[in-house]
Amino acid sequence: MNKKIAVINGDGIGPEVTRQAIKVLDAIAAQFNHEFAYTYCLMGADAIDKTGSPLPDETIEICLNNDAILFGAIGHPKYDNDPTAKVRPEQGLLKLRKSLQLYANIRPIITYPELYHLSPLKPSHLEHIDFVIFRELTAGTYYGEKGLSEDGNTAFDKSIYTRQEIERVTQRAFEYAQNRRKKLTLVDKSNVLETSRLWRKVVQEAAMEYSDVAVNYMYVDNAALQLILNPKQFDVILIENGFGDIISHEASVFNGSLGFAPSASVGTSNAMFSPIHGSYPQAAGKDIANPVGSILAAAMLLDYLELGKEAALVREAVNWTLAHGFVTKDIDPINFYFTSTIGELVTDYVSGKIPDGINKGNIELRKSTII
Ligand code: IPM
Ligand code: MG
Repeated sequence: MNKKIAVINGDGIGPEVTRQAIKVLDAIAAQFNHEFAYTYCLMGADAIDKTGSPLPDETIEICLNNDAILFGAIGHPKYDNDPTAKVRPEQGLLKLRKSLQLYANIRPIITYPELYHLSPLKPSHLEHIDFVIFRELTAGTYYGEKGLSEDGNTAFDKSIYTRQEIERVTQRAFEYAQNRRKKLTLVDKSNVLETSRLWRKVVQEAAMEYSDVAVNYMYVDNAALQLILNPKQFDVILIENGFGDIISHEASVFNGSLGFAPSASVGTSNAMFSPIHGSYPQAAGKDIANPVGSILAAAMLLDYLELGKEAALVREAVNWTLAHGFVTKDIDPINFYFTSTIGELVTDYVSGKIPDGINKGNIELRKSTII
């Protein structure tokens, strides 16, 4: 199979984690006789530095003309600390999501027994966690009218949702739930917000069509609490954009690090895959960032291209590295392996060089220890 993949490295650790995902994709291509052609394009602070724009038109063109998009991370401290900046890296990502109508952001959350000891939760809370967050991605406060008064003392961000915007992501979430444990939880704040009441109405209507899916409704403040108290109750969580950003980050640390969580942002004819973490500028260029989120995003990309066997092999390889204690510094600050080493181990596994051909001595040499 020949596929064209647009690659957006982005900022901070974006390039180095994406490099590992591409190594893995290349190994998959070699193993299964596929050809993946990559076209690199700019977005974020990197694009502002090089072109003045956080999302050059060329990037949109390239993304539209490829079969899938692999994206690293975005953001730079020089903008974070300057609230008056007119151009910001994040604007590039928001514009790309809108331009390609990537309205459903899918964030699967699972836990790994090997990492239970690093979790902020007790192991008894972590068993059997397996749910998926469906975050609406192209509307809400992120895209509503914004304003700042002339004296600079009053600001607003409107949250706007149309029925159609809610319906399309709702439909997708229900279809997803049908292929899982058939449970969907709408998370909202309908006791206060008008937009949430429209969400409830649309979801109640959809629930009648998908009668095999059990639906329940939960206020977002309660959901934040339930995620800690009893996370295994969830199967598919459907949630609006802004709340979804927060809840998905909360859910992603069950494994002790944000670095493991992948995501897919899908529309009708395009899809982008990325880790959910940010650009982590403090780690940029040091070869210490966790590449697993990006590698698992590549697995989601393979699923999207209907290469299910290939995707499963990538996940098996990731499980193998974790089971053997090959983890980055965010997981083990004392005995850690480098970003590139984790990428090579996953690649070697995919290529069939493990376990027989593994040279433990060489791996140990690429291990860092502060003792
Ligand atoms: C995410 C990120 C983005 C968001 C930022 C970088 C704009 O936090 O994808 O979770 O808030 O959507
Ligand atoms: Mg976020």
